[in-house]
Amino acid sequence: MGNFITFEGIEGCGKSTQIQLLGEWLVSIGKRVLMTREPGGTELGERIRTLLKDKCLDGHFSAKAELLLFEASRAQHMEKKIVPALTRGDDVLCDRFSDSSTVYQGAARKVPTSDVAFLNKFATNNLMPDLTIIVDITSEESVRRVLGRRGQIDRIEKENLSFFNDVRNGYLSIAKGDRRFLVVNGDQSVSDIQNEIRREYRARFM
Ligand code: TYD
Repeated sequence: MGNFITFEGIEGCGKSTQIQLLGEWLVSIGKRVLMTREPGGTELGERIRTLLKDKCLDGHFSAKAELLLFEASRAQHMEKKIVPALTRGDDVLCDRFSDSSTVYQGAARKVPTSDVAFLNKFATNNLMPDLTIIVDITSEESVRRVLGRRGQIDRIEKENLSFFNDVRNGYLSIAKGDRRFLVVNGDQSVSDIQNEIRREYRARFM
């Protein structure tokens, strides 16, 4: 089985850059790697992603409907892409996974935690990542980076600072005392963050 590594963090934390760099390094040392994301990763998942990001639906999702769409994308992704890749022996690097539902839908949108946990298990057959990297920045830094990145911001990114605070605190609280997680300070330089991630990969998997 390959190693299943997920990346989490609030908007603008820089996780996508880090996934790209880790993927390139792994390929350079001879690993086979699947880089993928949620919502998305499959044809159905990408259509669900488009639906979730549709500006016309701004504010029209019930929290439960939204959660179920993320989980539908995840179930498809798991069965059709992630499990086959891990079984082939490939490493899988996934931009967001079930922890995103735990913190965005659970901690921030207040869907009961036990419901989110059940649906995460249902969608994934309880297959957990081997390592989850949380790139941690403050909610103020997140909003600053997102607004600097582009003029127009989407529905989820438009949420207020207190929502981002809930998300950040949600991540820090699920990571506390759980060896599955590595929390990296996202205020460091891109290369310092990457070095920390590679060090962790070596320590755990090589
Ligand atoms: P995306 O543009 O990929 O944001 P980012 O670059 O920050 O990952 O959009 C994904 C959005 O969906 C992001 O705001 C987090 C949210 N999300 C959830 O609320 N629940 C989930 O289960 C997942 C996977 C994502």
